[in-house]
Amino acid sequence: MGMCKLRCLLLVFIGVCVSAGLGAAEKWVSLPPASLSQWYKPQNERQVWLHTMFSLRREMQAVTEYAASGEQPLLLKWTERFTKHYLSIAEMVPEWKDELEYEWLDQLRLAAQAGDSNRVIQAVKKIGQGCNACHREFRATVALLYRAPDFSAISIKRKGSDESQSYSELMRELSMLVNRIKIASDDKKNEQALNALAQLNSRLGDLGGVCVDCHKDAAPRERFLGKLTQNALADVGRGLEQGDQKLVGRSLGSAAVYACARCHAVHRSLYDISEQLKP
Ligand code: HEC
Ligand code: HEC
Ligand code: HEC
Repeated sequence: MGMCKLRCLLLVFIGVCVSAGLGAAEKWVSLPPASLSQWYKPQNERQVWLHTMFSLRREMQAVTEYAASGEQPLLLKWTERFTKHYLSIAEMVPEWKDELEYEWLDQLRLAAQAGDSNRVIQAVKKIGQGCNACHREFRATVALLYRAPDFSAISIKRKGSDESQSYSELMRELSMLVNRIKIASDDKKNEQALNALAQLNSRLGDLGGVCVDCHKDAAPRERFLGKLTQNALADVGRGLEQGDQKLVGRSLGSAAVYACARCHAVHRSLYDISEQLKP
């Protein structure tokens, strides 16, 4: 093989690596038409789109079941309800008109009037494939964009002061305090660690004050900031007082799982992704 040919091959090889690398770093997602936002909070007082979807699934079930049992008056009743909601998809979001199976909808209505169960069931199946196609493309992004809780506008008051902080400022402080406890404990500066622990407890108390912005019941707060977390933090304090570094390390790790990691799995990851999707 000549030198030139070898060099060409090498160049091609490098080119493939580079473009494969770029390819792996990007993935396209489809964003829904902006007109959808009027069917969600805060532009609408209800999550109209989502509730229309729940109705569609219920109506499809009723149509299928009454077709199978041959109860024609009820089959017709639910076919009409289904038709109304199905057509409302394109009334709400005109850009999605092409996603609808108008011909199969006609087939469904004719078959229901004729009491032809097999054709009803076939038409429902075909319409269902259209539902799935739209869901594969848009369902996850829509839920993230319109229903993931938004922490960007929340401000948290510091107990015993007039100051307040943004959510991410408080988070950075929590992380700094957890690490300060760990560093000071490693270096046997237990006084300093206890001081940071008191601040951590107080800041977690402040954080717990904002749950009621969105949660009317006490269970969610108890889940991340309740007994499990408080007991683990009390053990951190005991460890520091007794100079037991192992107990400090283990209990601090537990508290970080019960409070930080578990809340991040519920709230932070979804919030982060929804922020990235926002145009
Ligand atoms: C043009 C797009 C589109 C079509 C067609 C469509 N949907 Fe949806 N559907 C969505 C989107 C977007 C969501 C996500 C809504 C959300 O999470 O707030 C959704 C969510 C749902 C949900 C709730 C999510 C779940 O799995 O619990 C149900 C149920 C549902 N759709 C049923 C249906 C049925 C049944 C049909 C067909 C008869 C249908 N949809 C047709 C876009 C569509
Ligand atoms: C911006 C609104 C918002 C804030 C603030 C908020 N949450 Fe949530 N949270 C939600 C939504 C929406 C869900 C989804 C389920 C639901 O509606 O309860 C959820 C779900 C949860 C869940 C899982 C479901 C459950 O009930 O077990 C927990 C636990 C939770 N939140 C804890 C908290 C805690 C603790 C705080 C305060 C430190 C908090 N959340 C603050 C909106 C919020
Ligand atoms: C009630 C839920 C909740 C709890 C409990 C929680 N976090 Fe967070 N955390 C979040 C959310 C939501 C974000 C994203 C906020 C943002 O980026 O504005 C976040 C973001 C962060 C960030 C990134 C901040 C930034 O902007 O750089 C750090 C660091 C962090 N958390 C540390 C912690 C630590 C340490 C703990 C435990 C001591 C903790 N969090 C407990 C919900 C929580």
